[in-house]
Amino acid sequence: MSFAENALAGKTALVTGGATGIGAAIVRKLGKLGARVAITSRKEDNLKAAVQGFAEEDGIEVIYRVGDVRDSDGIAAVISDIGSQLGGLDILVCNAAGNFICPTEDLSSNGWRTVIDIDLNGTFNCCQAALPFLKNAASGGRIISISSTHADSGWPTAAHAGAAKAGIQNLMKSLSAEWGKYGIRANWVSPGPIEGTEGVDRLIIAQGKAREVLNRIPLGTFGQGEDIANAVVFLAGETGAYVSGTELVVDGAARWGS
Ligand code: COA
Repeated sequence: MSFAENALAGKTALVTGGATGIGAAIVRKLGKLGARVAITSRKEDNLKAAVQGFAEEDGIEVIYRVGDVRDSDGIAAVISDIGSQLGGLDILVCNAAGNFICPTEDLSSNGWRTVIDIDLNGTFNCCQAALPFLKNAASGGRIISISSTHADSGWPTAAHAGAAKAGIQNLMKSLSAEWGKYGIRANWVSPGPIEGTEGVDRLIIAQGKAREVLNRIPLGTFGQGEDIANAVVFLAGETGAYVSGTELVVDGAARWGS
């Protein structure tokens, strides 16, 4: 799928967790369409390698800052710094996430808290820190959170992540209502299983569940990172001007019920 060349020229964007997986695919797409992009995550090695890859393979310059979305003061400083470096912030993509497989009866309270903290609290922290910049975005600030179709279906053995993703969706609805007066649109993309991500490699393929999952996807394949990136661009660009407080599902019509 292709968007108009330079569809995002003049825009600035921050993608949390943008060094790897779906986040990196989003960065590539935003950058190729002309946006100036920053990424943040906890591991500097990942960030450095990603920025080098974006430059060498995609011809796009991306800046990075090390940050942990759980640390509200720390990530606020990072976002403030990025906003100053980029000369503003039009688009915030809340993509950073953590997850692991664990039956809920065995899950420690710290395990539960850790994933809620990264996924849900981290999204809140980033939205609040980015607000002063998003308020000033010329065509209306855009918040796009990466959720999951498991927010609706439940996520057996990853109940912590399922609950966090459901919380993110509700948070986006609240922000769309509260921050519409600032011209800010807040939406979320719900990916199904996306090839080459931890979610598919570790949580599906490594568990020997690839065939079982593919049988539940009428389009017959796992999605690609670019499929999610295309959805993000739709919401981030002029195409998303009158879309707020809602979900864009990108899952090949997957069905998880019995
Ligand atoms: N099974 C059960 N509990 C687990 C677990 C697993 N596989 N992995 C972590 N936990 C628990 C820990 O035991 C700990 O709880 P405890 O103190 O009661 O023992 C708690 O979660 C925090 O773990 P810790 O490793 O200290 O947290 P962290 O902040 O360093 O990392 C994650 C948390 C989620 C980022 C980590 O699990 C991780 O690196 N996951 C892989 C990367 C990833 O999630 N990518 C995104 C995929 S969508």
